[in-house]
Amino acid sequence: MSQGYHGAFGGAFIPEILHETFRRLTVAYETARADPAFWASYLQLMENYSGRPTPLTLADNLSREFGGRRVYIKREDLNQTGAHKANNVMGQGLLVKRMGKRRVIAETGAGQHGVATATMAARMGLECVIYMGAEDVERQRPNVFWMEQLGARVVPVTSGSRTLKDAINEALRDWVGSMDDTHYLLGTACGAHPFPEMVAWFQSIIGEEARRQILTQAGTLPTHVYACVGGGSNALGIFQAFLNDPDVALVGVEAGGEGLASGRHAARLAGDGVVGVAHGYKTFFLQNADGQMRDTHSVAAGLDYVGVSPILAHLHAQGRVRFAAATDSEVVSALKHLMRAEGIIPALESSHAVAQALKELPELPADAVVIINLSGRGDKDIFTVADALDDPGWRHFIRSKAENYARRDEHNQIFQGKESGQ
Ligand SMILES: Cc1ncc(COP(=O)(O)O)c(C=O)c1O
Repeated sequence: MSQGYHGAFGGAFIPEILHETFRRLTVAYETARADPAFWASYLQLMENYSGRPTPLTLADNLSREFGGRRVYIKREDLNQTGAHKANNVMGQGLLVKRMGKRRVIAETGAGQHGVATATMAARMGLECVIYMGAEDVERQRPNVFWMEQLGARVVPVTSGSRTLKDAINEALRDWVGSMDDTHYLLGTACGAHPFPEMVAWFQSIIGEEARRQILTQAGTLPTHVYACVGGGSNALGIFQAFLNDPDVALVGVEAGGEGLASGRHAARLAGDGVVGVAHGYKTFFLQNADGQMRDTHSVAAGLDYVGVSPILAHLHAQGRVRFAAATDSEVVSALKHLMRAEGIIPALESSHAVAQALKELPELPADAVVIINLSGRGDKDIFTVADALDDPGWRHFIRSKAENYARRDEHNQIFQGKESGQ
């Protein structure tokens, strides 16, 4: 690897003005990586603050349902803030302290990365601004609420498709004007070098644990590992530990949205992504014939992104990781299936990995040992899932809440009117 290239992918396509900032970040990251004390302090923080190691849970009922094929679930949903995003933000937070910066900015899609960043900033005493597509602000209001309560400023981005790619553009614009005291805390294994490699390094904690745990619990390596792929951080986090084990099949699951033929999806590697350069790096992007970025769609805001990690693009080109896509409706069914079978509520993003595993399990060898990386928990998705399931009890609850608020607003208006003598 040179200059952050992974085969033909990666690199650092950044404006001249950011060169020095990236150079300093690369030095800070490489110095930390070479320093065992840094990783030890990271491990300690993750153990004592985030609740690691996360369990590897044998899904007994699913295993029985699929004829004794063993299904294990890596529980990133049990991290502080409910997703694997905590691994990356805490690691980068430690680096920010080492670099002596006082402010962090971040982009977020599902909001999980934003909540994780705001949490880290609160703990480490950093100022925090989060850029978020206006559509995602609507879809993920509970996460916006928490980011604000944690002390972050959330900036809704109204340009373009009002989703993650537009939030990234806006965050980069901020960074160009603030890089002296600000770190851009990228949430996934994308962007210009050294971000993909650095984020993958912090997330490698998932696979390190999972490998040890499966050897202890199952007495063997897994035959299959499934992980959802937005930018690719949770997938790389778990895949890295098995890259040199050719008998372990690694499956990355992208957002099939309304189906690949509909054009409304976010499947770059399993779909029709084309190699290009954007957001500071070279990878597969969903583009139209003129090379313009296409709008993407997924029921899961965290997978609704136009590019994909250059490291995964390389592993795809090498044939080491297989890519598949799960549709929105398959994902909602998988979510229900896992809840009912195991009492685990997965995030919509993670449910893509569950959906693909459920699709393939009946065809796998009888002695298959499967790990599903459950990147996050589903309570953030309650509005989307309740909508998708068209739950009448939930509809009633929201309607009566809205009526209560309307009554309260009316009362306040009358009261204020009386006070001002109107
Ligand atoms: C729970 C969860 N899983 C997965 C993702 C996708 O990101 P990545 O591919 O970097 O793991 C997100 C992104 O927001 C997320 O919140």
